[in-house]
Amino acid sequence: LETKIEGIASSIRVVPHFPKPGIMFQDITTLLLNPKAFKNTIDLFVERYSSMDISVVAGVEARGFIFGPSIALAIGAKFIPLRKPRKLPGEVISERYVLEYGTDCLEMHVGAVQPGERALVVDDLIATGGTLCAAMNLLERAGAEVVECACVIELPELKGRERLNGKPLFVLVESH
Ligand code: PRP
Ligand code: MG
Repeated sequence: LETKIEGIASSIRVVPHFPKPGIMFQDITTLLLNPKAFKNTIDLFVERYSSMDISVVAGVEARGFIFGPSIALAIGAKFIPLRKPRKLPGEVISERYVLEYGTDCLEMHVGAVQPGERALVVDDLIATGGTLCAAMNLLERAGAEVVECACVIELPELKGRERLNGKPLFVLVESH
């Protein structure tokens, strides 16, 4: 396990001062270039979630789309894309969230999830936690039970975990 995690962590490129000064960007595209580390990433999530009776995996646009569907297929769950505004063609519910400058919004199709379904929310990274919070709110407003959130990377200094209202968060790599 430790060697798998180390392989994943060392495949993530940190790009200083991107997209602006002071930000240490966690670049998962280099993880995707390492098939072994990419597979280990998916496998670790699948090992954790295959026996948790999860019927729906929701992935957050854009980078949650890279990891979520593979997990969903492997555990026999459906996949729901949570999208940025005005991308989904059907009726949607929306959830605004606060960014460092301004706000953004996630949307989910009405009818994608049934009340009582057990859901997993997947994204690449948790920073302030605002994105995952909005994602969970969408699922819960639709009556789903969010079992857990899963991310490849956590930035613990930003204390995003504290914004999840006690909901469990599972991460593979902490970046300091
Ligand atoms: C990044 C990252 C997470 C989110 C985490 O996405 O992929 O989704 O920020 O930040 P938070 O915990 O402070 O909310 P971003 O909105 O930059 O867009 P992208 O995934 O479409 O690249
Ligand atoms: Mg994102």
